Amino acid sequence: MTIAAAKISVLFVCLGNICRSPTAHGVFAKLVEQRGYGSVISVDSAGTGDWHLDHAPDKRTTQVAASKGYDLSQLRARLVTSADFDQFDYIIAMDRANLKDLRDMQPQDYTGHLGLFLDFSEQPSVHEVPDPYYGGEDGFELVFGLVEEASLGLLQHLEVSHPEALAP
Ligand code: 4NP
Repeated sequence: MTIAAAKISVLFVCLGNICRSPTAHGVFAKLVEQRGYGSVISVDSAGTGDWHLDHAPDKRTTQVAASKGYDLSQLRARLVTSADFDQFDYIIAMDRANLKDLRDMQPQDYTGHLGLFLDFSEQPSVHEVPDPYYGGEDGFELVFGLVEEASLGLLQHLEVSHPEALAP
């Protein structure tokens, strides 16, 4: 894969872009900063559905994230578009329905990585980040834990796959 200007770009995608992908966006971006990769890895998120465009993340999402030290309040929902395939090296879906929608949009010549987020978890107990929107508080805590674990795995994968860009 060619990495434009030694940058690795990562896009997290869920359905509404107000619960799961903003959590991944905030958690992974903070990890990237903490590890000193802020100028090398760019992070964004988007949704396949358009119900919440320009909305801040769901309150339950921002509350759980805030309780763990993450501020997601500045994020705003946007729709994933075919132009994202020109821009992002990694497009990472939260569940299989998101992945199918993305595969339907994927240009034939896309050379980046399109796949499921939890495939980066070391010992995934589940393979999809479950949609917490219509459930209770527990679902948001579960999402957060799955996202934290997969974020560590994703960063490790990037370090192994792009040593030239992420050299210490
Ligand atoms: P997300 O959760 O895909 O994790 O942002 C959802 C948010 C909103 C809806 C569904 C899922 N909705 O149907 O409005």
